[in-house]
Amino acid sequence: MTHGEGLALVDRDADGVDRAFRIDVLAGLRQAQKAVPARWFYDDAGSQLFEDITRLEEYYPTRAETEILEARGRDFAVSVGPGRAVVEFGSGSSVKTPLLLDAIAPAAYVPLDIAGDFLREAAGRLASRFPDLPVHPVEADFMREVALPGAVSAMPKLGFFPGSTIGNMVPRTAVDLLRSMRGTLQADHGVQPMLLIGMDLVKAPEVLIAAYDDPAGVTAAFNRNLAHRINRELGGSIPVDALRHVARWDDDLARIEMHLEAVRAIEFDVSGERFAMAAGETIHTENSHKFTRRSGNLLLAAAGWTPRRRWTDRAKRFSLILAEATAPRNAP
Ligand code: AVJ
Repeated sequence: MTHGEGLALVDRDADGVDRAFRIDVLAGLRQAQKAVPARWFYDDAGSQLFEDITRLEEYYPTRAETEILEARGRDFAVSVGPGRAVVEFGSGSSVKTPLLLDAIAPAAYVPLDIAGDFLREAAGRLASRFPDLPVHPVEADFMREVALPGAVSAMPKLGFFPGSTIGNMVPRTAVDLLRSMRGTLQADHGVQPMLLIGMDLVKAPEVLIAAYDDPAGVTAAFNRNLAHRINRELGGSIPVDALRHVARWDDDLARIEMHLEAVRAIEFDVSGERFAMAAGETIHTENSHKFTRRSGNLLLAAAGWTPRRRWTDRAKRFSLILAEATAPRNAP
């Protein structure tokens, strides 16, 4: 395994506090509608809770996407062809990746993640599972355009962005990300990059709400862990017991929203700053947008990607879309 040009990316202050976390939380709590970006869910406890979520009966996306990856290997091989460098955005624990790598005979694998330790561990596992495949982990924030290692710069690329993580972003941020992925994946010369992206589908609100408000309370624990994390890392005094997990479906925006709702009036400190919430007031913690065939195609097109193939699981709950970078042209 070749190690990427990985510097530690997390910028910590003198107390060892992640500066970006503090800035995001304080700015978010000062807003009229309190909000904290969903990416802060994933400390060690939060990552573990998310793994637990993926095993819940009600949480179908992981199983549905895995079903597609297992069933469609031949199709991927035909549509993608051999010899591409697979660049996985936010590779995390990379459980789905072997299914793709087994299917398509790639020339290299580039896992890209902001969490360096997690990244190197996952990259190491993959490297031993695919001993002949060059693995080049890159520690980077994939929301920005990334310069890939020289060894893969000339190879045609296939971006891999599973899990419907794109659904966490509001459309303008999603388009920014999809565009910057196109920049990251552009080869030195020739072949247009491709992108294999997971998008969860619009379905009956009851099914969606059950997936984000499971009876066992795992998603509630995942949501509340954010408040615990603020208390732990930012010297917070949030009375977590006074926050209730809420998952709602917004039909106009086609998204599940998660909130932490104050069950009574509360006051607390975070990093020495005082905050108050009235009973019923919420902290907005996550959006999970759901797509239709057309809305997914439109989002991709807006960012310069042409959808080429699309697969769903048998129950049509989840989609994987293979898109190709749109060649620039003038006609309409
Ligand atoms: C990891 C962003 C795909 O939105 O379904 C699961 C995170 N949040 N349950 C999702 C999540 C609540 C998940 N993603």
